[in-house]
This record gives sequence, C-alpha cells and structure tokens, in this order.
Amino acid sequence: MSGAKAVREDRLWQRHADMAKLGGTPKGGVNRQALSPEDAAARNLLASWAKARGFSLFTDAIGNLFVRREGSDPAALPVMSGSHMDSQPTGGRFDGMYGVLAAFEALEALEDAGLRTRRPLIAVAWTNEEGSRFQPGAMGSAVFAGRNKLDDMLMVKDWKGVVLKEALAETLKAAPAPMREGKPGFALDGYVEVHIEQGPRLENARKTIGVVTGIQGSRRYIVETLGEEAHAGTTPRAARQDAFAAATRIASAMYEATTDADDTLRFTIGRVEVYPGSPNTVPGKASFTVDMRHPSNEVLDVHEKKLLAIVAARAAPCTARIDRVTAVAPTDFDLHVIDLVRAKADALALSNMDMPSGAGHDAMHIATLCPAGMIFVPCEHGISHNEIENATPADLAAGTRVLVEVLVELANR
Ligand code: GLV
Ligand code: MN
Ligand code: MN
Repeated sequence: MSGAKAVREDRLWQRHADMAKLGGTPKGGVNRQALSPEDAAARNLLASWAKARGFSLFTDAIGNLFVRREGSDPAALPVMSGSHMDSQPTGGRFDGMYGVLAAFEALEALEDAGLRTRRPLIAVAWTNEEGSRFQPGAMGSAVFAGRNKLDDMLMVKDWKGVVLKEALAETLKAAPAPMREGKPGFALDGYVEVHIEQGPRLENARKTIGVVTGIQGSRRYIVETLGEEAHAGTTPRAARQDAFAAATRIASAMYEATTDADDTLRFTIGRVEVYPGSPNTVPGKASFTVDMRHPSNEVLDVHEKKLLAIVAARAAPCTARIDRVTAVAPTDFDLHVIDLVRAKADALALSNMDMPSGAGHDAMHIATLCPAGMIFVPCEHGISHNEIENATPADLAAGTRVLVEVLVELANR
C-alpha cells in the first residue's frame, strides 16, 4: 500500500474533533492561546497519541514539541513537517492544528502501511505561532532557526504582564516531555508544512491543493501616545491632551496612507488600549498595534517611513512614538520542493494551483535552515481567525495525501 492510500480521512477528522474540545468556544471555534492550560492539554493529547504508536517524543527550551519516527539510516538528517496548536482568542479549529495533525497522520499512515523511510520523519508543534498573547508570533520556529534569541523571547510579557518563561515552565510542568538539552535547533534535510489557505482563492478557483510558492513579508509595530489625564466634564478642549484623540488621528492617517490601488498592502490595527480606561477621565495614554504585510520589502520600507512621519506629525498636543516589534522578510520556497508538491498533487489527480501565502507560517523561518515548502487546502469562504472557520474532511485528507507522498520522496533521498 502507498503512503497516500494509508491516510485515513476518518481518523484525521476525529483527531480534529478531539483537539477542538480543548479550548472549545460556544460558536464552534477555539480559544487555545500559546502556553495556556488549553495549550498544555493539546500537547498532552498529541503526546498520548504518539506514545500509543511507539513514536518518540521530545521538547526543547522554547517548548517546541517533536514526535519522531525512526528511519532505516540512523545517521541521516531528518525531514520535518508540522505547524502550531495555539490559536487566536477567537480562533478556528484548523488554523495550525491541521498542519500538526496532518504531519502526525503522515507518520501513522506510514506506520500502518509498513513503509520505512531512509531518513527519520519528525512531526512538530511549534510554540506560539499566533503571537496574539506573546509577541512576536512564529516564535518557536524563529528561535529554532536562530532568527530570534531564546533569552530575549523568554523575557517577553503578555498583555497582562505574565512573563513567557513562567508560562512556559507552567506548560511544561502540566505537559511534560523529555527535554532536548542545549539551544533549540538542529539540522534538517527538508521541511514541508500543510495549512488551510485562510483566504478564498482555492475555493473560488475550485482547486483542492495550493502549491505554495512563498510568503509575503510582514512587520509589526506598537504606537503609543502620551497626553494628560483630566476631568471629562470640566476640561475645555484647548486644555486637553487627549491621548486617545491623538491615537485616532494617527490611526486614520495611517489607514489612508496604506490604501494602495491594487489592494496588495495589508494594514491592520488589531489591538487598542486606552489608559486609565475610565469613562469620565480624559485618557492620558493610548496604544495600538499595527500589522503590515506586502510581498515586497521595498514597499514595506516605503510605508514604514510613512507611518513614522504620521506619528511625528499628528500627535500634538500629545507626544507619540512608534516601535517596530518584528520584521520578517518575504520568503521564497525551495524550487525543488515546490515542483515536488505540484507533481505529487498531479499524480494523485488532485486539482491544484501555484499561489503565494498571505498569512505568516512557521515555514518562513525554517526555510532559512533547509529546503522548505507548503501545501494549502481550501477553507470555507476563505474565513480564518474566526470561530466559524471550516474545512471539509475530504480536503484535509487530500492535503495530507500530498504531504505523505512528498515526505516519502524527501525522506528517501
Ligand atoms: C498568522 O496567524 C498570521 O498572522 O499570519
Ligand atoms: Mn496558522
Ligand atoms: Mn493564525
């Protein structure tokens, strides 16, 4: 039996349903933010399945979780596949989790089919891909690839002031796994990540498989305005230094400056905080996040300059600053992996198209370490980062079948 034939759609779907209970929300989505008790529960469930299949399990100092199936050549570098199990606060059941479960299904399918690859295969669940609780996102893979420093990341705080190091220690206490000592990161021969598309292109084109060619560049910023608290009922307009009013002036100018004619630039303000947050006090401080993305670094540079100029020009009578939190350059995936994904989709008679990724993924960091690529499947109406995110069991299985065939080929090189 081929690896693809051994993929079991029912098992893969059931595993999604089991994981969706961990942090499940009334609207059918999940709230399983990074390093929360729900994240720990997902780690334990994956570990229990891995143990039941006799795969080995280990974690590293940033909490990435690895499931390993041995190959026939103990000296050969491994091939890896996976994604993330953390979610947005109002996340869906498939973003990230599909990539982890598809990788695990690939290991199980090969086990069921009795197919031993030359290289070991590793399924991975990267820590904190979403970056909604702890910034930056794709953190575990960035540390693994040496693009972010472990010590810096351990000191990052969430919005409530919880230090990542503490949350990670709690998580690993609740979901223990053997620790791989030393700095995270080890050599890989290849990496392939499966994900729902999170946009409408595959569905609109009626294609089952997206052959992902690359990922657009992304940057995140925090803008903070400083004014002065004052009485809401008595303070005349001229005497106010309203930090939220300054923030809204800056925000509207930014929306205008980032509206491009061909609708390629992505600009999002996703989190706003106003201090002290009292209805009858003029705000003395406000802050908001900016997420900006484009396939070209040069375009991002141009728009970054615009954002800086707006912050300098629009704050008065308050003061304001903008700090860049992350910058990830656009990624081009490995041409051989791209061709392989397309060839395997064709061989399985699955309709497919080449496409870039608008969303960020852990693969963008691992692509700096080894040949890497991605496989997309459609999601309903292209909706993601939303509790109603949906995908069909057949499409999830189809993406996994392509993955198995690609992994077998890479792992037998
Ligand atoms: C990942 O969820 C992203 O923000 O692209
Ligand atoms: Mn994701
Ligand atoms: Mn996401």
